[in-house]
Amino acid sequence: MTTNQIFENNRGWVNDKLTLDENYFDNLSKGQSPEILYIGCSDSRVTAEELMGAKPGEAFVHRNIANMVSNLDLSSMSVINYAVVYLNVKHIVVCGHYYCGGVKAAMDSADLGILNPWLRNIRDVYRIHKIELSAIEDEEKKYKRLVELNVQEQCINVLKTAEVQHAYRTRGISVHGWVFDIKSGKLIDLNIDFEKIIENIAEIYRID
Ligand code: CO
Repeated sequence: MTTNQIFENNRGWVNDKLTLDENYFDNLSKGQSPEILYIGCSDSRVTAEELMGAKPGEAFVHRNIANMVSNLDLSSMSVINYAVVYLNVKHIVVCGHYYCGGVKAAMDSADLGILNPWLRNIRDVYRIHKIELSAIEDEEKKYKRLVELNVQEQCINVLKTAEVQHAYRTRGISVHGWVFDIKSGKLIDLNIDFEKIIENIAEIYRID
């Protein structure tokens, strides 16, 4: 796709929107109140809004390699803070995807330079769940399971933040772990029991 093509596409898109509603962009410019914060992978095949059928204004989106929520990453921490404290989102979703290159790289030993510290967070997920993962002999199944467990651990990282804990207690914000299956196009809810997880980690991570 050329950049010229992109501008041509944009002109077509603006025309389409204005044909349906001449105030479409005027209304968009007035502000946003999305109900969902979506944290997903930067992978070009996993388009946040398109796979959810979300329209402009409906989802606050953060994407990075392998949908990570790293405690020291000012970008994801700021996105969570803004979405929870100022936009008052009702749901936070961490959405991973099968065949994630970031997760695959974390299962190999190649030296990837600046990517090493980022991918080390996924290696930590592997270490935490080593007993379960090591018992899976089929490499593809192991790879897919690590994608799921990574989503779970990143959801736990979301729950470690003071603002999410506060919103959970005061207004029942909910956290969801999903996986997008590139092979079928389907979105899978991992149905993670966060009530139980919060109980388990509260002793260590609770912030009042
Ligand atoms: Co990915």
